[in-house]
Amino acid sequence: MDGIVVFGAGGRAGRAVTAEALRRGYGVTAVVRDPERYAELAAEGVSVVRGDVTDAGSVREVAGGAVGAVHAVSPFSGPEQGFASLDPDFFVKAADALLAGLASAGVRRLIAVGLFADLLGANGRPVMDDPAAFPPEIRPFALAHTAGLRRLREAGEGAVDWLMLTPGGGLEPDAPRTGRHRFGGERVPEGAPGLSYAELAVAVLDEIGTPSRHRTRVSVFVPREARVRRT
Ligand SMILES: NC(=O)c1ccc[n+]([C@@H]2O[C@H](COP(=O)([O-])OP(=O)(O)OC[C@H]3O[C@@H](n4cnc5c(N)ncnc54)[C@H](OP(=O)(O)O)[C@@H]3O)[C@@H](O)[C@H]2O)c1
Repeated sequence: MDGIVVFGAGGRAGRAVTAEALRRGYGVTAVVRDPERYAELAAEGVSVVRGDVTDAGSVREVAGGAVGAVHAVSPFSGPEQGFASLDPDFFVKAADALLAGLASAGVRRLIAVGLFADLLGANGRPVMDDPAAFPPEIRPFALAHTAGLRRLREAGEGAVDWLMLTPGGGLEPDAPRTGRHRFGGERVPEGAPGLSYAELAVAVLDEIGTPSRHRTRVSVFVPREARVRRT
């Protein structure tokens, strides 16, 4: 059975990606920092392993044999956490480790989850620069995320065919899985419609199974008129 390796599989996006991958019949290697915290994932038939997305050797070790990798790791889970422990180079280190580790493991496809803060708003400026649209106190996290995207872009035509999927608006835990997402470009999609974690996962697995975009970043969103349908 083909395998997908999911970094950050214990998080909100990672769990949705894992569920979608299982639904499609993939084997899943869930990479977490402490496997003992994720017994329920193991119970679902997932291989839960310890790993570090910022260490190329660790990436190579856990990714061998996979047809695709997913980067859904976040070192920041909410403003209450503060920024004392945030490494501004976290996403750069992750990009470097993933590109090197996956290449040496022979894994050719990487889907990374982005952050809408570095899409461009109506004024042509990144959303994170508009305090009305993005909380200024979270800007350090957005800058760290953006540095990771820049690093992926700098990789050029390397061995790993990466794609960053950036939610065009909010990620909503309870919104439906519609199967009706669309891709946009660098701008916030009109009306800033969001999508569910489940729908993001559909986009991630579609882009592993049938890649349509390569070495670039796209926004992903569900148009407002398509949001009520369920699949
Ligand atoms: N609207 C938007 O644009 C939007 C909204 C939400 C999220 N996002 C992005 O989506 C991605 C996933 O977010 P999420 O909401 O799923 O995050 P989350 O629920 O906070 O989960 C993040 C996971 O990352 C793992 N992690 C944290 N630090 C790590 C480290 N140093 N090494 C390895 N793993 C580590 C944690 O794993 P452990 O299980 O080991 O603790 C955690 O399960 C992030 O890039 C986030 O910025 C975008």
